[in-house]
Amino acid sequence: MVLERTLVLVKPDGVERGLIGEIISRYERKGLKLIGLKLLNFSRVKAEELYAIHKGRPYYEKLIEFMTSKPIVAIAIKGNNAIDLVRLINGETDPLKSVPGSIRGDFSTDITYNLVHASDCKENAESELAILFSPEELCSYN
Ligand code: PPS
Repeated sequence: MVLERTLVLVKPDGVERGLIGEIISRYERKGLKLIGLKLLNFSRVKAEELYAIHKGRPYYEKLIEFMTSKPIVAIAIKGNNAIDLVRLINGETDPLKSVPGSIRGDFSTDITYNLVHASDCKENAESELAILFSPEELCSYN
């Protein structure tokens, strides 16, 4: 058992298309547990913090503008191998590689408007969770 926590964001396109419930249900059905959940407007400061590693890339400005354009949903998830399982459920970033059955494979054709973000390793999961949630916003329950 490798108990992990991770951050998922439903991006503005997922909120606008009414896919919040569909997306959340996929993590729940897998057996992962929600420990934090909120709808919010992502501030530019926080979006830049989350995507700091991408600064300078050609797509960076468009990505920040998109992520701050309309509300997002932040989800804190806990479970066995949660980090890799969530990314598997989300599907590949490249729309030509995201297979049907995954969220991106089923609902997206675009590398920017690709519905979901998820942390890629333990260290980033903890720092990304801290950007979106204060410790008291995360629940501990069995
Ligand atoms: S991943 O899945 O995070 O490991 O992929 P990575 O390539 O590191 O993340 C890239 C994030 O930037 C978003 N984005 C783009 N990437 C590449 N090319 C273009 N043109 C582009 N436009 C946006 C991509 O959706 C990834 O966002 P996140 O939220 O990290 O999934």
